[in-house]
Amino acid sequence: MTTNGTLVALDKVTRLYRMGDVEVQALRQVSTTIQEGEFVAVMGSSGSGKSTLMNILGCLDRPTSGRYLLWERDVSRLGRADLAEIRNQTLGFVFQNFNLLARTSALENVELPLIYGGLASRKRHRRATEALQRVGLGDRMDHHPNQLSGGQQQRVAIARAIVSDPRLILADEPTGNLDSRTTAEIMGLFAELNQAKMTIVLVTHEVDVAAYASRILWMKDGQVVLDQPHTPSTPLVLSHPDGDQDPGRPEPPSPPDRSTDGSIASLAAQQAHT
Ligand SMILES: Nc1ncnc2c1ncn2[C@@H]1O[C@H](COP(=O)(O)OP(=O)(O)OP(=O)(O)O)[C@@H](O)[C@H]1O
Ligand SMILES: [Mg+2]
Repeated sequence: MTTNGTLVALDKVTRLYRMGDVEVQALRQVSTTIQEGEFVAVMGSSGSGKSTLMNILGCLDRPTSGRYLLWERDVSRLGRADLAEIRNQTLGFVFQNFNLLARTSALENVELPLIYGGLASRKRHRRATEALQRVGLGDRMDHHPNQLSGGQQQRVAIARAIVSDPRLILADEPTGNLDSRTTAEIMGLFAELNQAKMTIVLVTHEVDVAAYASRILWMKDGQVVLDQPHTPSTPLVLSHPDGDQDPGRPEPPSPPDRSTDGSIASLAAQQAHT
């Protein structure tokens, strides 16, 4: 592993929220690295800190303590303007609710980051057109969001995320509002982007969605409690470290010998015995 391939390095990142007298440790001393070209799925139960982690990775928020190196630059203590510039030049975002401007065409939505980036109008137009063609919406560029299906709206959002050619795409439950067929289409698109060397970090509650990733991070109580490689697009069988199974899912096979195996199943078995 070489350092110039390291895109993200978190060193003991903690995020505290204070609500009156109550302190919530949304992230507790998280240390990890993400290499260029990885496709990471972040999983874990509600409230485990996934979005807090994404907000910090996305320079939308800063750690209370600890260090975040993005592309070898320490961004943990930067001010708002610097963070905004890094977001615009280095990062692409995809959200559950698409976050498109309603009264604006698909093309104009995709052009927006380039306007903030100060690109001239002709170039903007060309790059946004290319991005929309890349996500399969070359014939829908003049449509407004309410004239597009949910899956198409998410494609516009993905085009907007990739139009500035970011180093890293951050997607927080991007298929949370989509049916299973559309989910598969959108995940196919993420997989294509990853095959074209785009680094992706994606939050999901769904095993079928996480199965597209090459690495699974499982969060619990503000910590990464499991970090497991995975062969993309092969079935991902997991027994939650939290001890509960997804309702309606078949029982996974019995966990292997936990003295030698670091899998999710064996971690769950360990936790069940402590
Ligand atoms: N702005 C905030 N102020 C106070 N507490 C917060 C804030 N944002 C998050 N928290 C708390 O931090 C913890 C982690 O929240 P976070 O949103 O990161 O969870 P999550 O894993 O994304 O959950 P979900 O799966 O429901 O989206 C939770 O206990 C939450 O209540
Ligand atoms: Mg969340």
